[in-house]
Amino acid sequence: MVSKVLLMLLILAICSTFVICNAGGSKKKFHNKHKEGWKNGHDYDSYEPKYDGDGLKDNFYHKSCPRAEKIVQSVTERHVSSNPNLPAKLIRVLFHDCFVRGCDASVLLNSTGNIQSEKDANANRNLAGFDVIDSIKAEVEKVCQETVSCADILALATRDAVSLQYGRPLWKVPTGRRDGTISLASETSTNIPSGASNFTVLSNIFANKSLSVHDLVALSGAHTIGVGHCNFFSRRLFNFTGKGDQDSSLDPNYADFLRTQCKNSTDRITTVAMDPGSSVSFDNHYFEILKDRKGLFVSDAALLTDDDARRFALKLLNPKKFFDEFAKSMEKMGAIGVLTGSQGQIRKHCSLVN
Ligand code: HEM
Ligand SMILES: *[C@@H]1O[C@H](CO)[C@@H](O)[C@H](O)[C@H]1NC(C)=O
Ligand SMILES: *[C@@H]1O[C@H](CO)[C@@H](O)[C@H](O)[C@H]1NC(C)=O
Ligand SMILES: *[C@@H]1O[C@H](CO)[C@@H](O)[C@H](O)[C@H]1NC(C)=O
Ligand SMILES: *[C@@H]1O[C@H](CO)[C@@H](O)[C@H](O)[C@H]1NC(C)=O
Ligand SMILES: *[C@@H]1O[C@H](CO)[C@@H](O)[C@H](O)[C@H]1NC(C)=O
Repeated sequence: MVSKVLLMLLILAICSTFVICNAGGSKKKFHNKHKEGWKNGHDYDSYEPKYDGDGLKDNFYHKSCPRAEKIVQSVTERHVSSNPNLPAKLIRVLFHDCFVRGCDASVLLNSTGNIQSEKDANANRNLAGFDVIDSIKAEVEKVCQETVSCADILALATRDAVSLQYGRPLWKVPTGRRDGTISLASETSTNIPSGASNFTVLSNIFANKSLSVHDLVALSGAHTIGVGHCNFFSRRLFNFTGKGDQDSSLDPNYADFLRTQCKNSTDRITTVAMDPGSSVSFDNHYFEILKDRKGLFVSDAALLTDDDARRFALKLLNPKKFFDEFAKSMEKMGAIGVLTGSQGQIRKHCSLVN
């Protein structure tokens, strides 16, 4: 009896140390509506600014706009509470921002006159959440005019949205990014990998951003949340090699299920959860389905075609390892090609150059 109680206490103590015991299904417990800041430790804005390798630093707005990070967090939280799909939308926008001209909020710019911006490129057709970024920016502008960049707001809001279910930040976001002034639709297709990409294409695009194969695998774990439209994977179901066949790297029973969801091979309307059953929970379940050959896109399945990538994907079945690696890779992704110092500008409106 006594030893049972001791064992329980030990398990509780271990649980409170690691994020694993919180993974999934614990959103309500950590919901903190009425106060600014994280419930579970880590308030990065109590740190003194400290330079990072890329010219970013922790809490860059410490002096110039001390409440900036708190405002971003509370407005983001309000939006996520009413829209559980928002974390997936934002993290994808951030990925598409950082891979084209670096993390400079170029993806947020509207097309002007005869110049088509990134937003209007094919690969960005289904991006969403721009209105949320605009509303956070408006709140921040009320307190600090032309001080906090849209690029930082996007990076912070993404981290805060994805982290909300855990009540503590899942990765660090050093700040000091500035906003770019150029956004070209034509630069999108070469820098954003399509869902039909093989491993060679994926690893080349990531290497071009100074991201490793391990970063590629860890970041693909973001497909644990969100949805994919049928047209991006339906070839795998209906006509993979042009002989009316299906992709043999996809679990056949899962392919049967997917065919019940997608009406036909050109269906651009229907969406399917990328991690069915847990598609609003940010966890490492993606690596379970990947191992079971249920990754939705060719680009997911491709991670199993390279020895190093496959071994690393299997390591990420360990939740602690996944959260560590994902955090590291997000910090790298968030620093790609950033503008700092006097480069670029601080936009007034995230969708318009000043
Ligand atoms: C490795 C290369 C990647 C490829 C080829 C890829 C491809 C795709 C595709 C085709 C979709 C479906 C889009 C749609 O149907 O509208 C998608 C969705 C998504 N991707 Fe990726 N992706 C990659 C990496 C990433 C990374 C690095 C992240 C973030 C860190 C990410 C986050 C997401 C999210 C959250 C969604 C769901 C969006 C939603 O629910 O609206 N992806 N991705
Ligand atoms: C940018 O485009 C969006 C969508 O078309 C629109 O709602 C928004 O008002 C535009 N932003 C500005 C500042 O014009
Ligand atoms: C990967 O895809 C690219 C572009 O479609 C193609 O040129 C290349 O041959 C493919 N590589 C492999 C190993 O299939
Ligand atoms: C990425 O590709 C661009 C365009 O080809 C090139 O200028 C740049 O040096 C590459 N960067 C890296 C890190 O490979
Ligand atoms: C399958 O693909 C082949 C080659 O692209 C094409 O000729 C054929 O019409 C397609 N079949 C169907 C049913 O779409
Ligand atoms: C395919 O399915 C979509 C969604 O139901 C529908 O809008 C579209 O017309 C269909 N296309 C064909 C060729 O049947």
